[in-house]
Amino acid sequence: MRAKITATGSYLPEKVLTNFDLEKVMDTSDEWIRTRTGIRERHIAADNEATSDMVAKAIQNLCERHNISPEEFDMIIVATDTPDTAYPSTACWVQKHLKLKNKVPAFDMEAGCTGWLYGLEVSAGLIESGRAKKILLAGAETMSKAVNWDDRATAVLFGDGAGATLIELTEDDSGILSTYIGANGTLAHLLYQPAGGSRMPASEKTVKESLHSVYMAGNEVFRYAVRYMQMSAEKALERAGLRAEDVSIFIPHQANQRIIDATCKRVGVPLSKTYITIDRIANISAGTIPISLDLAIQEDRVKKGDIVLMDAFGGGFTWGAAVVRW
Ligand SMILES: CC(C)(COP(=O)(O)OP(=O)(O)OC[C@H]1O[C@@H](n2cnc3c(N)ncnc32)[C@H](O)[C@@H]1OP(=O)(O)O)[C@@H](O)C(=O)NCCC(=O)NCCS
Repeated sequence: MRAKITATGSYLPEKVLTNFDLEKVMDTSDEWIRTRTGIRERHIAADNEATSDMVAKAIQNLCERHNISPEEFDMIIVATDTPDTAYPSTACWVQKHLKLKNKVPAFDMEAGCTGWLYGLEVSAGLIESGRAKKILLAGAETMSKAVNWDDRATAVLFGDGAGATLIELTEDDSGILSTYIGANGTLAHLLYQPAGGSRMPASEKTVKESLHSVYMAGNEVFRYAVRYMQMSAEKALERAGLRAEDVSIFIPHQANQRIIDATCKRVGVPLSKTYITIDRIANISAGTIPISLDLAIQEDRVKKGDIVLMDAFGGGFTWGAAVVRW
């Protein structure tokens, strides 16, 4: 008896910001962004739209498409680095928006871009041990409100959106065959938000110096990303007793097309089996994998019996992968 992803949904904000739009407001070019990252455009949340609003819409999308009521969930987990507020959790704000009366536990999972895969590991454990029956696991970010728009090296890389997944028990041979997660906190300084926490509380100086936005040592992150994505994919495949050739569709975290290309090559999964969303949605951190999974399903790229490999890395550093039989 194993846990299974039984339903998906997603939400992308209406506003689309293209590389050509960015050319008009900063010293960059469509050519630079496309050739260095693979990104053409990204979705941007409205001024009054926060992470929990997008999660609520992704959940509504999941519920409508699968004929489920949110009152059926017995736990809500939101993986995010860009919560509505430092506290309470985004998951609690989601309960408020959906006016949920079922009083189920709700909490956030913070593990950088790997957050949703960390959530999958936790959800699978709770479901398989019998402690929960229907976990709503979302991954969502409002990165546009977390980046420094004067820093062209990071601002162009990210987008906003939310993905929702439902994790339940299955009795057939489908479901989550393996998960693998890891972290290396000695690399925390390479990708983080310096101010706004207990280390460096908000002050006039921190606001002036834009220390409440993403700091990233891009080149170093790139190198580790490929290494950790390869390792995670290989470990998850090994735990599932499968090889790269068995993978029907690969859904990697989408931070940079060049990272994806290098990972595919090292793991041995061809690009033709790899589902790419970075061109249209950029990097949505913890939202990337659940949104990409839902888009792949909507495009009929995931079929019953398919072996789906998902793989991510992110700030922390964190990394992880999962192998699922659909
Ligand atoms: C950020 C990243 C795209 C930069 O690409 P790169 O090829 O390493 O580029 P560099 O940082 O070496 O910068 C090269 C030049 O482009 C410039 N540049 C940076 N951003 C630019 C932009 N948006 N437009 C135009 N030029 C830009 C730099 O200033 C630099 O100019 P210089 O040589 O005159 O100093 C790349 O390092 C990357 O993707 N890293 C991983 C990021 C990641 O995965 N983050 C998410 C973690 S989940």
